[in-house]
Amino acid sequence: MAAFGRKEIQLAEHEMPGLMALRREYADEQPLAGARITGSLHMTIQTAVLIETLVALGARVRWASCNIFSTQDHAAAAVVVGPDGTPAEPAGVPVYAWKGETLDEYWWCTEQALVWPDGETPNMILDDGGDATLLVHRGVEFERAGAVPAPETADSEEYAVILGVLRRSLEEDPRRWTRIAAGVRGVTEETTTGVHRLYEMQAAGGLLFPAINVNDAVTKSKFDNRYGCRHSLIDGINRATDVLIGGKVAVVCGYGDVGKGCAQSLQGQGARVVVTEIDPICALQAAMDGYQVATLEDVCATADIIITATGCANVVTHEHMARMKHQAIVGNIGHFDNEIDMAGLSRRGDAERIPIKPQVDEWRFADGHSVIVLSEGRLLNLGNATGHPSFVMSNSFSNQTIAQIELFTRTDAYPVGVHTLPKHLDEKVARLHLGALGVRLTELTKEQAAYLGVPVEGPYKAEHYRY
Ligand code: NAI
Repeated sequence: MAAFGRKEIQLAEHEMPGLMALRREYADEQPLAGARITGSLHMTIQTAVLIETLVALGARVRWASCNIFSTQDHAAAAVVVGPDGTPAEPAGVPVYAWKGETLDEYWWCTEQALVWPDGETPNMILDDGGDATLLVHRGVEFERAGAVPAPETADSEEYAVILGVLRRSLEEDPRRWTRIAAGVRGVTEETTTGVHRLYEMQAAGGLLFPAINVNDAVTKSKFDNRYGCRHSLIDGINRATDVLIGGKVAVVCGYGDVGKGCAQSLQGQGARVVVTEIDPICALQAAMDGYQVATLEDVCATADIIITATGCANVVTHEHMARMKHQAIVGNIGHFDNEIDMAGLSRRGDAERIPIKPQVDEWRFADGHSVIVLSEGRLLNLGNATGHPSFVMSNSFSNQTIAQIELFTRTDAYPVGVHTLPKHLDEKVARLHLGALGVRLTELTKEQAAYLGVPVEGPYKAEHYRY
């Protein structure tokens, strides 16, 4: 698999001009020399190029995926043996990820990425969704308390697994997570949901180290979340079902950055798109973009495709699915699997699961109608397809790389809290991607710059500008 992975990595490198430019820019300086980075982010071909960029800048890296279905095994294999075909570090990176992990395996993998051999600890975390950060924080919490609650007391199957991991860990080494937390200079977080968790921890006074919110770099959320999902949503639906999208009624729950991209791609295929929203601003945007805005209760019985993109919980309920059309397709593109009530679907016992193929299940209700659920309610663009394409991920991962360099080399400039990257770095990431698209930028004259009150070389917008 490694040879196949290497070929795809080489193709991806050409499509990731931002990351390759950063490799050239920092080749001599090696700003990440001494960095020990634990990464928890979908182990795809694009992530392989990110990992090898971090290594090229001097870092040592250990990796896990942040989703049980998102790993591309050939990408993982190629990273493990590195470009020269041997697993020797630093070019060969230990990767704990494969497609189709169980929850037990998933959390074991996350733990392996965080626990370095020979008593070393990571000094940087690169997270997507916050699971690595969560494990460290919960570990410290329970080490301080001197005990881990019994897994039976957990409110979800997944939390029971986490408690199990931490129980064992506390028995093995009662100070493991405290030591890891003390050594971490900071975390750079990739996605909306992970960033949300960080701000919550900060507000509660529980954040243990500084964090950079990579998601809210303009060149991340306004590109990856939007144009990335515009590409990979229908890729996932097509690979999973091959159902014609044109003419169908497709519902997109949530009209944030991800929802906007999803709605556009479904409309581009000729679907009649309906949006659901809780936020009046986003609802009005959807209406002005030409979509019907309704509640799921009103449209679930007539929809052919229902996609959740909210970062919220219990958006598609058991009751909705019980009322859906025969063979309606139900999928989620938000970070966690609780947007669709999968737990209710299996717990209630009135629907039978009929596996069709990996990551595609038919759930047949007692009345004979069924719904087709993609990736067990986990993000379908990574479970049923291969996630976002390289070019858009080059933007996201250039921000990740710059954020890692910032936090590692200028640690004192980032006190414990959640920070965003300065705008000139955001503009730099965009600039790195213009040439490949043949974009020619207009340059301000000195007089025009003075008129607008901005420097000729940028930044061009005030912090409050929303793009
Ligand atoms: P966002 O905050 O921009 O958008 C979410 C939208 O959903 C908001 O407008 C909110 O008002 C709306 N919403 C919340 N609860 C709702 C409900 N119950 N019903 C209807 N609408 C509701 O967030 P963004 O950036 O669009 O991300 C959404 C999710 O997708 C997050 O979990 C994020 O981590 C994830 N994500 C997934 C990616 C992927 O490749 N699958 C890529 C980027 C983000």
